[in-house]
Amino acid sequence: MTLNEKQITGFLGSASKAAETILEAVKEDWFINVVSHLDADGLSAAGIIGKALFRLDAKFRIRVRHWIDEKLAEDIRSEKPQLTIFSDLGSGYLDLLNERLSDFKIVILDHHQIIGEQTSRFVHVNPHLHDIDGARDISGSGVVYFVAKAMNKENVDLAPVAVVGALGDLQDKYDQRKLGGLNEKIVEDATNAGLLKVEKDLIFFGRETRPIHRTLAYTTNPFIPGISGEEDKSLAFLVSQDIKPKHGEKWRALRDLSEEEKRRLCSALADYLLSKGLHCEASNLIGHVYVLNREEPWTPLRDAREFSVLLNATGRMDRSGLGIAVCMGDRGSALEEANRTLGEYRGTISKYLGWVVEKPERMKELEGIYVVNGEGFIDNRVIGAISSILSMSLPNPEKPLIAYAMVEEEELAKISARTTDMVINKGVNLGEIMQTAAEKYSGRGGGHNIAAGAQIPMENIDAFISIVNELVRKQLKDEKIGS
Ligand code: C5P
Ligand code: C5P
Ligand code: ZN
Repeated sequence: MTLNEKQITGFLGSASKAAETILEAVKEDWFINVVSHLDADGLSAAGIIGKALFRLDAKFRIRVRHWIDEKLAEDIRSEKPQLTIFSDLGSGYLDLLNERLSDFKIVILDHHQIIGEQTSRFVHVNPHLHDIDGARDISGSGVVYFVAKAMNKENVDLAPVAVVGALGDLQDKYDQRKLGGLNEKIVEDATNAGLLKVEKDLIFFGRETRPIHRTLAYTTNPFIPGISGEEDKSLAFLVSQDIKPKHGEKWRALRDLSEEEKRRLCSALADYLLSKGLHCEASNLIGHVYVLNREEPWTPLRDAREFSVLLNATGRMDRSGLGIAVCMGDRGSALEEANRTLGEYRGTISKYLGWVVEKPERMKELEGIYVVNGEGFIDNRVIGAISSILSMSLPNPEKPLIAYAMVEEEELAKISARTTDMVINKGVNLGEIMQTAAEKYSGRGGGHNIAAGAQIPMENIDAFISIVNELVRKQLKDEKIGS
């Protein structure tokens, strides 16, 4: 969608208002409490606001949460911060915030679908309030970036972090995996500041850090049958195309290929896909690549998509402070620890994925959805990532995937739902479905049309799943659900 002037000025106007509120709090020397979301976009958002506040010598603290609940509201009530900033979360919890914290000063900087009554009590910046799509045109860290930029022009150097956040939320939904909408403006800022280079290149993940055959084997978007998931065959494919996988003792990464080698590899892959009748996949080999050109080559910070995975890893492995520190510019011990955490995270993810595929009955197929039950094996902090990865290669991509894990100590089930553009284009909105189903079973749910989640009391999970199955089928038939 191309945005019009009214949408853009409306949004930027509200970002400026939030910036004024924050600057005022800093001037008064208030204690500022930042609560941000735990995923890559949330940590990018935390890093941007953290750096902006740090530059002002403000008194602040950042904490990271998976969601907002009564307990967090109670903590805030007893700590009495003079200002609380929610970043990359908050818009889905307006009722709770109105009910529990209406007497507190709150700024919400978010891009999730708005749930609950929008009042003027809180300063609220959200693209949906200006008819801008929060699932593809701007992320949580992007919203925070515009506020930080309105606080001080110097913060333009944080634009690459917002690009990382947007890619972490998989917002590259425009032609050839491009960031569009307000994200494009952030990309422009980053590029003009000399901090980012946008290239069109083979789109495979791991271009800075992985041996080429592993990059190919790990690729599931596009899915290349006979190569995706098969390292040995990928290696053989490279050799057959006369592309040397090693330079001396060192494996080469995609970044090390000459233009000519890249062209050769690309056309060989395209021919291969076409020979299998996969025309669409062949056209998806090339896409926009976002390079943070001031970062060291061969590190995961250089490619914005890899950077986002590093952040995600720190959040999901309970080390979010590391990810935030890296976003704020730490390239020393925090980065080193974050890299180690990334290694552990990869190990954890492949263990869980291996477990799911080990027994076919671990992924149940209902009429409208697939269901994966983590059965006490999958950690609830990682269930979202598992759901995202599994949803990219379902036997039937026309059915959303619902994966869940238990949070034993809180007697909750954490649910992560994912689907594809094809399904949302048919009218399915997982955010609405999670909200409606969770409300029915004493929980809370919401998110985006394409990716959403919920928390509900454990004992209600079976009933919850069956209503979700029902709601998906209703939306496919174009029936209204919920209130
Ligand atoms: O809370 P937030 O919006 O930051 O998170 C969105 C989540 O949904 C991320 O974990 C992201 O990876 C996932 N997502 C997805 N597919 C999409 C868009 C988002 O799996 N197309
Ligand atoms: O936790 P998960 O990654 O599955 O969440 C997917 C999306 O749904 C995220 O954007 C998350 O912030 C959102 N969500 C929400 N309300 C919930 C649970 C998840 O808005 N109760
Ligand atoms: Zn987000």
